[in-house]
Order: sequence, then structure tokens, then C-alpha cells
Amino acid sequence: MKIAVIGTGYVGLVTGVCLAELGNDVACIDIDEEKIGKLNNGIMPIYEPGLEEMVVRNKASGKLRFTLDIGNSVKEAEVVFICVGTPPKANGEADLSYVENAARTIAEVMDSYKLIVEKSTVPVQTGEMVAKTIKSHNMHNADFDVASNPEFLREGSAVSDFMNPDRIVVGCESQKSRQMMEKLYAPLKAPIIFTDIKSAEIIKHASNSFLATKISFINAIANVCELAGADVEKVAEGMGLDMRIGRQFLNAGIGYGGSCFPKDVDAFIKISEKLGYDFRLLKAVQEINDMQKKHFINKIERALWIVKGKTIGVLGLAFKPNTDDMRLAPSLEIISRLQEEGAIIKAYDPKAMEKSKLELENIDYCDSPYDVAKESDALLILTEWKDFLELDLKKIKHLMRHPLIIDGRNIYSPDVMKKEGFSYISIGRKEVV
Ligand code: UDX
Repeated sequence: MKIAVIGTGYVGLVTGVCLAELGNDVACIDIDEEKIGKLNNGIMPIYEPGLEEMVVRNKASGKLRFTLDIGNSVKEAEVVFICVGTPPKANGEADLSYVENAARTIAEVMDSYKLIVEKSTVPVQTGEMVAKTIKSHNMHNADFDVASNPEFLREGSAVSDFMNPDRIVVGCESQKSRQMMEKLYAPLKAPIIFTDIKSAEIIKHASNSFLATKISFINAIANVCELAGADVEKVAEGMGLDMRIGRQFLNAGIGYGGSCFPKDVDAFIKISEKLGYDFRLLKAVQEINDMQKKHFINKIERALWIVKGKTIGVLGLAFKPNTDDMRLAPSLEIISRLQEEGAIIKAYDPKAMEKSKLELENIDYCDSPYDVAKESDALLILTEWKDFLELDLKKIKHLMRHPLIIDGRNIYSPDVMKKEGFSYISIGRKEVV
């Protein structure tokens, strides 16, 4: 099928490239000249496993192109995906101005039937507004349908998530659009949930909010475990083996970050409020998430007593492993707070240091975890990169000024750390001092 993808950000790029990989003719459109230029020269704007190879392959075969030309790309397409950003406004609501712009532009140029699919995460009822906007700017009186097809891509495994989804959600309201979406996704052999547009929009917000709730729930349990002297890892294991609960997203830590959960939970609270429902459960989820970072900072302060003048090594900056994304990473708040208190910060992250340099100043960025450990009074684990599991702990201990590890991701076993001679403080487990 001929496809146009408007917006070549994270979602648009992965969607466009994967649809080309499935055999479609795809035009990825953006207004950012530099980005399109770079993509046309094979330079990726983001790091995502498997993406670059796929771009190169599909560009070479002519299935994929990157362009600034929205007019012709939309005219030629049968399906137009809206993948533009929906950033939060100051009050937490989603800013839908880019979506409106895209809808208006599509309406102005389309001169034959188009299926317009909203892929960006949007509040319920956006589909109605998109349809209304298109209707009122439909210059050539072309037929069209609107559908909602939310993405469930995780950063770090977005390509594989697209290619092997648990489910595909499609909200559409005509036989024709349903058949087109069926045809588009047939190669993926995944269950497709067809529903109305509003339910599809809610499925996206409800899914992300539920996952965020699971994380805040286990973080609350971790706090109870600390007070009671229990072990949250064992509790999560015991709970997770119940098929109805499941072990995933029960990893206690320093709270969720990234470009989706904080923004989506906030937007869902706001849209519920507008509809007349006070979503107190989600407000508590947010509150626990904020508290979790503060609680971690308290642990550092308690362990070091005086933070001013101490050298603190940070392992991991990205909001989670396998990505270079720093958006709303817990490391930002934690490091800034320690710097305010006068700490000297050294840091290492396998992928996120370049992006971190744009956000955090006065950090000694190091070439390896061992450089970070050198002369440090404490080592913090803020992202659970696999590399950190394979560290030579004897060497780390030897390099540090004081063998203290404060682990915000529970990557080590307290027993092993005790044997290795570290003071070890983690989340929801007994402290080794
Ligand atoms: C998420 C959703 O998973 C995805 O379906 C949606 O489309 C976009 O948002 P992503 O933001 O890439 O994806 O990250 P995810 O892997 O879900 O992790 C989000 C945050 O939760 C990270 O900060 C992570 O560290 C944290 N997390 C996750 C925990 O603290 N504990 C867990 O058990 C799981």
C-alpha cells in the first residue's frame, strides 16, 4: 500500500520504517529540514536497535523515502498516519496543535479517498476533532475515513515491538477502513482488536496508566518492605507468579520517567477531569512516583551525612537501559539536587552521555565505570544497563575512596555485596552497612 507518515519523530520513524519493511511504499515527512537531510544521508536522529539497518535496506530498495514535501506525499498515499508530537501544555493537558495542523494540511491537499490514522497518543475524542477539521478544510471534497491505531512501542525495543506486537488496536467506523487496516497489518499475524475510535483512544491512555500504576504500586510496597525489614524482590516474585498479576513492571526503583508515562498519566488525569471524573487513583500514582526520587535522595544524604564536597559517581543516566533518551530521566532530578547541595558529580552512561551534556552541567563525564569509581565517596546506580552487572567489583572497591554503593535499580544482590565488602543500600531491601 502507499503510505504517508506525517512526523518523523520516534513513533513516526519507527512506524514508517517498519511499514516499509512489510512491503509498503512509505514517505516519511517532516518539517525539520536538517532531520530529513540527515536521514537521507543515513544518519539516525535516535538510537534504536535494528533501526539503522532497516532504514538503509528499505531506502536502497526504494520502499522508503524521507521528504519535506507533504503535499505530493499525501496526494499519492492511500493511508496517512499522523505521528506528530502531542507535548504537554503547562497545565498537563496534551497540546494538540500539531495534530490539528496535520489534519488541516491533509484536508487541503487530498484529492482522492484517504484513510487518516491517528497514531500519536491523543486524548479521547481527538478522532472526532480530526474528522471535523478535515471536513471543514476539505478543498477537493474528497472521501475520507479517520481511524485510531495507537502505538505501544517501548524505547530500546521499538522495532521488535512493532514487528511482534501482543496486539494491534484499531478504532475505525467504516467497513472500508477496517478492511484497509486488516490488509496493512495482515503480515504481522497478531491479534487485531477492532473497536470504535473513542475506545481505541482510551485503550492507549488506560494501558500506559495501568503500567505506571503497577510501578508505583511496587514502589509503595518497597517502602513498606523497608519499614518492615522485608525484601521487595521476593515480594514481587511471589506476587508475579500469580498469572492474574504477572511479574512484568513490578521492578521497584527510582520511579518511571521517559517521554510517555509521566506525560500520558498527566494527560489522562486532565481529560478525565474535563469529562467530569476525578481520577484520584492516578493522582496517587503520580505522587508516589515523585516521592520515590526524593526518597532515594534521602538515602544518599543519610549514607553520606554531609553531601557538600563529596565526590559522587553516577552509573547510568538514561531513563532506562538500551536508549540514549534523557527525557524526564530520574537522573536529572537526582543529580541536580546533589549538585545544589555541593556534591562533585562524575558520571558514565553507555549511550546517553551526549544527550545528558545538553541537560546537565558541571559533570565530569567518564570513559568507563572504573573511571567513575576512582576517588568516589559513593557510587549510584541510576539505570540498570547490563554492562553494570558485569563489573569487576573488586576493582571498583579498590578504586573508590569509600566502598559505598546506593543502587536505585536493585541490580546487585545484598549478600554478594556484603561478601565483597561494600556498604550497599538499595530499594525495598535490607541495607548492608
Ligand atoms: C512506554 C510503554 O511501555 C509503551 O507501550 C508506550 O508506547 C510508551 O511508553 P517507554 O517509555 O519506552 O514505553 O518505557 P518502558 O519500558 O515502559 O519504561 C518506562 C519507565 O518505567 C522507565 O523509566 C522504567 O525505568 C520504569 N519502570 C519500568 C520501572 O521503574 N519499573 C518497571 O518494572 C518497569
